[in-house]
Amino acid sequence: MTATQRWKFHDPTEVQFGRGIRETLAELAASFGSRPILVTDAGLVGLPIIDDLRGLLPDGTPVFAEVEPNPTVQMVDALAELIREVEADVLVAAGGGSSLDCAKAAGSVSQQDGPARAYHSGSATLDDRHLPLIAVPTTAGTGSEVTPISVLDDPEKGVKAPMTHANFFPVVALVDPELTMSMPPEVTASTGFDALAHAVEGYWSRNHNPISDALALEAAGLVFDHLPRALEDGSDVRAREGMSTAALMAGMAFHAPKNAAVHACSFPLSATYHLPHGTACAITLDHFMRYNAPAMGARGKRLARAAGFPNMDAMADTFGAMKARSGLPTRLSHVGIAEEDIDALVEASFHPLMDNNPREVTPEELAGIYRRML
Ligand SMILES: [Fe+2]
Repeated sequence: MTATQRWKFHDPTEVQFGRGIRETLAELAASFGSRPILVTDAGLVGLPIIDDLRGLLPDGTPVFAEVEPNPTVQMVDALAELIREVEADVLVAAGGGSSLDCAKAAGSVSQQDGPARAYHSGSATLDDRHLPLIAVPTTAGTGSEVTPISVLDDPEKGVKAPMTHANFFPVVALVDPELTMSMPPEVTASTGFDALAHAVEGYWSRNHNPISDALALEAAGLVFDHLPRALEDGSDVRAREGMSTAALMAGMAFHAPKNAAVHACSFPLSATYHLPHGTACAITLDHFMRYNAPAMGARGKRLARAAGFPNMDAMADTFGAMKARSGLPTRLSHVGIAEEDIDALVEASFHPLMDNNPREVTPEELAGIYRRML
């Protein structure tokens, strides 16, 4: 980097980390408000980890458990309505990235006049009013607990895109690796690969900065050190701890520089082909590791070495093998994409994040990458 480059790094979220740290939730929530709402994934409600967290909050705490994967602006509006109805003053979001993202947006939208869509794809802007959010991740991947980003889908308008606002930073990330132990292997894989994609993309983004770089290098190493073991034995708490740390650091690594080609391509793969976010990132990640390597030079070597490899191609090989072993799709044809779908997929992949990619991607080159992945 040159001396004339300017950059900014800001992460106001307090991190509280450790096995069993969830037990401090009662006191923590009470320090921000007396009328909490617990926000969680529809698929988690009723599980012991959520019952335990609910038991730590005051009796009668409302639970909003309508968050599905790829949360929508309509879910945000439904949560915003509940917030207004019960006059909630603090949000506790416990779940994967979907619950955290939905709560981030609803914590602000509930205090404004317009519906979520007006701020997501319309021209309305959020003012400073928002509720404090305590983020309690039950997966290790999105890093949403330390980012100001909420990825929302608007199925009626066909828009899936990230929404970013300084108000969306959780006030505290309460990260208890024990909460991730109930994840089945396919979720461990998908979310773990998302963490790796954040580390790699934060690092190779054209807008990278030295602090994000340091976080990204450490996070990438942690994923390769701990994800294989977490996949092999989900009850290995040290592996889970390593992955919770990796996800957290990778989240901090990408939110300032922003992601690049892998995430740009993930949006249509999720919106049109319904792949979970991490799976949609993983499917192209090794291909872009190879594509970007020539443009990265010594920086690419530095990333590969931090992750334990001599070069980016070796990292891509190991990642590809890990993906295949995990049972996640490795080819576009595995998810029902055929030659005739490629042109539309290419067109939908040119989200602005594509401009952050260290090597320019043209529609022709992307079509070539997708064809080789069929
Ligand atoms: Fe991601």
